[in-house]
Amino acid sequence: MFWAGYDPATLHVERVSDTQGENVDYRQFARDQIAHIQKTVGAGKAVSALSGGVDSAVTTALAHEALGNRLKVFFIDDGLMRQDEPQTVRRAFAKLGIRVTVIDAAKTFFAALEGLTDPEEKRKVFRDTFYKVFGKAVRESGAQFLLQGTIAADIIETKKGVKTQHNVLDQIGISAKRGYGFTTIEPLKTLYKPDVRKVGQVLGLPKIMYTRMPFPGPGLSCRVLGEVTPERVEIVRQACRIVEEETGKFKRFQAFAVLLADRATGVTAAGRRAFGHIVAVRCVDSENAITATATRLTWPVFDRIQKRITKAIPSVTKVVYDLTPKPPSTIEYI
Ligand code: XMP
Repeated sequence: MFWAGYDPATLHVERVSDTQGENVDYRQFARDQIAHIQKTVGAGKAVSALSGGVDSAVTTALAHEALGNRLKVFFIDDGLMRQDEPQTVRRAFAKLGIRVTVIDAAKTFFAALEGLTDPEEKRKVFRDTFYKVFGKAVRESGAQFLLQGTIAADIIETKKGVKTQHNVLDQIGISAKRGYGFTTIEPLKTLYKPDVRKVGQVLGLPKIMYTRMPFPGPGLSCRVLGEVTPERVEIVRQACRIVEEETGKFKRFQAFAVLLADRATGVTAAGRRAFGHIVAVRCVDSENAITATATRLTWPVFDRIQKRITKAIPSVTKVVYDLTPKPPSTIEYI
């Protein structure tokens, strides 16, 4: 079943498939999912896959409510995170009394992605590496279940073949149990992003955690066209931080930068030729990530973004703004 037509004022959603028209309270939804997690895990143990995004934060909070210290929370540092993300996430969850174990796996991910340029191949290799690393963590912790924050939009886009979202397995015939040795529990798989935020709110998560910008599972590898190397990721990490900061006063759904695979001619202040990187700036308004439109930023904001990016990253010779809505574009670049 899927959810649609939510009413933010009443914290209600309307269920539109098998039990059409029934109103469901987010608090009740949270209680039901907590009970479901308890029933599924039984006397066993579970692991939660925290990524720093809203979906995995809300999933972890539900699972913590359900299982207490029978839940172990892992954050895989894949080297593809935003600036300071592992520390930020660890600190935010420590305040909630939830201990997060960071697994340093950057080298493993960069080795797996080396030489790959095809978008779907990159996504599939990311997915496989992600679950292999998690499979090991699950086995070592003696758990049988992995809680993850898959939402309805992830499943729809993967099933339609638009792009392979890293966290969709069983729905497309990949058995997590046979392939990686654990069973997944996905409490949010019937929800869209606005609903997930409401569940985070009723669970009492700090506002910063349920209002955060979405961040894709494969991280900054979605924002590097061509080969994903530590150097190229660092360029996009710096540019993303600038775009996030400079667009902060707009009520946007997502804002980030992308490093294109091509290069463009430039000229240095000393009059020398350069042949440098091209950075695209993406900032979109959206309700649920299924459709999106480019945010109407202002000229001074554009100007500050280009000045800061070219100053901080001298190898960049062009900064462009992406005007394309979804469809025909998608939000991310791969
Ligand atoms: P697209 O690029 O398909 O993205 O318009 C829609 C939303 O999904 C996020 N996204 C992902 N989230 N795993 C995720 O958890 C993924 O593999 C993935 N790919 C894209 C994207 O950031 C946007 O919010």
